Amino acid sequence: MKSDKLGVCVIGAGRAGLIHAVNFAKGIKNARLTAICEPNHEAAEKARQELELERHYPDYRQALDDDQVDAVVVVTPTDYHRDIVVSAAEAGKHILCEKPMAMTVGECDEMITATEKNNVVLQIGFMRRFDQNFVYAREQVRQGAIGDVVLVKSLTRGPSIPQRWQYDIAKSNGPLAEVNSHDIDTLRWFTESEFEHVYAIAGNYRCPEARDEFPDFYDNVLMTASFANGMQGSIDGAVSVGYGYDARLEVVGTEGVLFVGRLDQTGVVTCNRSNGLKAPAVESWRSLFSDAYRNEDQGFVDTIMKGKPPVVSGHDGKMAVKVVNAGNQSIIEKKPIALNE
Ligand SMILES: NC(=O)c1ccc[n+]([C@@H]2O[C@H](COP(=O)([O-])OP(=O)(O)OC[C@H]3O[C@@H](n4cnc5c(N)ncnc54)[C@H](O)[C@@H]3O)[C@@H](O)[C@H]2O)c1
Repeated sequence: MKSDKLGVCVIGAGRAGLIHAVNFAKGIKNARLTAICEPNHEAAEKARQELELERHYPDYRQALDDDQVDAVVVVTPTDYHRDIVVSAAEAGKHILCEKPMAMTVGECDEMITATEKNNVVLQIGFMRRFDQNFVYAREQVRQGAIGDVVLVKSLTRGPSIPQRWQYDIAKSNGPLAEVNSHDIDTLRWFTESEFEHVYAIAGNYRCPEARDEFPDFYDNVLMTASFANGMQGSIDGAVSVGYGYDARLEVVGTEGVLFVGRLDQTGVVTCNRSNGLKAPAVESWRSLFSDAYRNEDQGFVDTIMKGKPPVVSGHDGKMAVKVVNAGNQSIIEKKPIALNE
């Protein structure tokens, strides 16, 4: 390290990249934002002004050559993750890679091998593992508050219209990857087991503009799962829902049930004669999980500084990619898919 603080470069300054960049610019202990890497001129200028940052690289290889950069946060579209992570590992940089880790299990293996060989940290961006409500719920389950876990149900539905690259299943692996990777990881986390079978159905109900060019794209998906330890799982995902950002978890046990998350933003409900009950809905993942992203970024730095294993490993990222691919296969083949290690 060139200074007493870890120098961080955010690669990809789009929607999620800016969240990490602002965190590292404004308050992650023992770290500082050194540079951003963003090939799109407009996005780079916006980020540079917002962050009051001198250093900007259009090509990630330039950032990897910078000896002020000790660590990178990879926040590009998913199909670039493999190349950037492998190059970053070979350049000796620690890596926080946004979910989904990559497009295939083979790519994940190459990323894990490169980071192990070069002795750098690889953490994957499942920030729900840093969200205080999810962490509390996990602890309640571990302490036996609902008996033995029987079923874990997790849903994520987002308001945004997908970015163009997200319509293309070949570039994004679709909403199961982009939206439901978090739910898949949550099911592994709460069952403490691996997916054994999945069955998924999906369709495009809300995005007619994508139907001709991207006939495989789906905006609504439902997936059921069985686990190696006999537990059951269910996931639903959607984009372009319009009504708000909806992320909820339900865990059914032999002696109770546990709920995480709700759709209302504030807990304040107004009622009057003309409108009846009214409460603002959660608008975005940016606001709902803002503390979780900060905790995740701090956790990444602490892992590097203290030499501890990351809370979310490359293996966790890889297992989620495996489930995404099985889910997409199930949608196409219209049958359950078995997952074997
Ligand atoms: N953890 C979360 O909750 C969360 C939320 C949103 C997105 N994400 C993930 O973050 C990643 C980016 O998603 P997004 O919604 O921010 O996308 P985005 O399209 O808004 O931003 C991606 C940015 O990467 C830039 N880029 C493209 N190729 C690049 C390259 N080779 N080098 C550097 N930059 C490059 C693009 O110009 C763009 O500005 C995806 O993997 C996505 O799944 C995670």
